[in-house]
Amino acid sequence: MWLFSLNSTTTKTLWLPEQVSTFAHEVDSLFYFILYWSIFFFILVVVGTFYFTWKYKSRRKGLTSPLDHNTALEIAWTIIPLLLTMVVFFWGAKTYLKMNIAPYNSMEVNVKAQKWFWTFTYKEGFTNTNELVIPVNKPVKLIMESQDVLHSFYIPDFRVKMDVIPNRYMMLWFEATKVGQYDIFCTEYCGKSHSEMLGKVKVLSQSDYEEWLVTANVVDESIPLVDLGKMIYNKNACYTCHSIDGSTVIGPSFKGIWGTTMKHVDGTTELVDENYILESIIEPQKKIVEGYQGVMPSYKGILRDREIQGVIEYIKLLK
Ligand code: CUA
Repeated sequence: MWLFSLNSTTTKTLWLPEQVSTFAHEVDSLFYFILYWSIFFFILVVVGTFYFTWKYKSRRKGLTSPLDHNTALEIAWTIIPLLLTMVVFFWGAKTYLKMNIAPYNSMEVNVKAQKWFWTFTYKEGFTNTNELVIPVNKPVKLIMESQDVLHSFYIPDFRVKMDVIPNRYMMLWFEATKVGQYDIFCTEYCGKSHSEMLGKVKVLSQSDYEEWLVTANVVDESIPLVDLGKMIYNKNACYTCHSIDGSTVIGPSFKGIWGTTMKHVDGTTELVDENYILESIIEPQKKIVEGYQGVMPSYKGILRDREIQGVIEYIKLLK
């Protein structure tokens, strides 16, 4: 780990994570430019303050001369900061424009943020939860929307971050330069499980990506339903709201609910069976269990039929 980096390296430093996108280098260079000048002026001002305090203390010299003007000095301390801020402005504007105008050949992925997970919908017609899979060295444009409140999409290694606001599309683009797996964070406080709104971006080589595309949309029929259900439970981060050990998180625990009778806030009751679970996944707002707030989003179009069957079988087992 390097304490200081003059950007000759793309590795992680004390200040910043690895540089894995085409503009990471540019963003970091500007950051270091501002950082080093700030350190320089900080030291200059602090040392200057102490020096002059010592130099002009009255016990040594008495009163100082009534000197109140120095044209050269005043021009210098006006022009130098002006030049520096102009450099920061034009440099920043150039990078800002680059980061905001996606190339025409960008691959597009639709992103939906909701409490408390990310879904990525591909043009090929399938949706991935909490995992964005992309090819390396190809511009990717994200068209983002929020289902509920304000979220913010952040990939530190790519140096990109964008608020995701309800009722409008937000754009973000980047080009990954290295195969690997990187973190996605939500950086806008969005409720109780905000800190668990985590995702991964998986950067694959072009050939691996094409291979992934072919298999991504196929439901693996060979996985036993229970295992598939458990996989879906983890992949879709169901655990942020539903525990499997009986503890109460945000929604009812899955442990021991199969075959019991649920009481709803509207006073009705219903047996937990296949249809009850199906309805809870597709139309979660229809029946709210007593003692809870109806915050669950619909998984209609996110989970496939076999995956819902898997979840049902998984819940049956959690006695
Ligand atoms: Cu979504 Cu914080």
